Amino acid sequence: MSNKRVLTGDRPTGKLHIGHYFGSLKSRVELQNEFETYILIADVQALTDNFNNPEKVRKNVREVLIDYLSCGIDPEKSTIYIQSMIPETAELTVFYSNLVTIARLERNPTVKTELAQKKEVFGDSVTYGFLGYPVSQAADITIMDGTIVPAGEDQEPLIEQCREIVRKFNSIYGDVLREPEILLSERKRIKGLDGNEKMGKSLGNAIYISDSPEEITKKVMSAVTDPNRIKKDDLGNPDVCMVAYYHNLFSTPEECKAVCEECKQGQRGCVACKKQLANNIIEFLRPMREKREYYESHPEIVDKILKEGTKKAREEAKKNIARIKKAMKLNYFEGEQYDRF
Ligand code: TRP
Repeated sequence: MSNKRVLTGDRPTGKLHIGHYFGSLKSRVELQNEFETYILIADVQALTDNFNNPEKVRKNVREVLIDYLSCGIDPEKSTIYIQSMIPETAELTVFYSNLVTIARLERNPTVKTELAQKKEVFGDSVTYGFLGYPVSQAADITIMDGTIVPAGEDQEPLIEQCREIVRKFNSIYGDVLREPEILLSERKRIKGLDGNEKMGKSLGNAIYISDSPEEITKKVMSAVTDPNRIKKDDLGNPDVCMVAYYHNLFSTPEECKAVCEECKQGQRGCVACKKQLANNIIEFLRPMREKREYYESHPEIVDKILKEGTKKAREEAKKNIARIKKAMKLNYFEGEQYDRF
């Protein structure tokens, strides 16, 4: 095994959808066979814009874990843990906060975009915690000595900021930290059922990994199709149809070709096309739904996975904070047993 280590995670603010699946979960399932993998459920980061809704964050920690397990993330291979239970991360965030300027954080494109979307939370005065979350994310990565961060494009500015912090740290305190790299998911963002560029829970256009067959059918039936095609005989344009777009993700190449040809020639109605798609999505998600049922009926197994993963991650964090504090000359009683009381 290489000495590279994968570190990634998600904010527990809702159930994961198929955009998450194609964007990140699928590749994590493959990466865990190749690299040592740590996956954090970022409850502290979720609180930065949900500080007034702790129940939501708490509830979604287990939801996200069950989504991971249903998709094939294997707790024997990946260490899954709760961010807030690693106090060393908070410690490191404080150390890093000296190495980042406020202007730099305000310029971070991800922070800027998110702030524009969160006007109802922050108005025009952002909290210290939210502005600083890229610093805390840099601590998440480096406290576990993560070197590969599989993530979507939206995370790129955060990883770049982490790299800058690492370089600054090393230039002052010595060569202690490894600079992580982002591993961009090969498949770009998945569009919503309504044709929106992004699938998102707040947009109401998502199919969740946990959706029942009935929910899937209902959602697919309401997907946006070619607006110029009113009757079945009208010649359709699959390029502007969300159902055709989703067929490309869930149906065989032969099916996709047949669907598009028949649509263009006005031979296949949208309803038949949607039913076929819904069935394919239902079949695709079936094994995940079955795993979910297993974990939902065994909450003690879910808790055991979380506890063991967090314990292992904590051990790793303790090791790394000791190296980091030593480099910063904060190791007052080294060699004695008082390094950590
Ligand atoms: N920012 C990530 C998201 O919103 C979650 C996250 C927190 C994360 N810490 C991380 C991702 C460290 C990768 C590495 O989904």
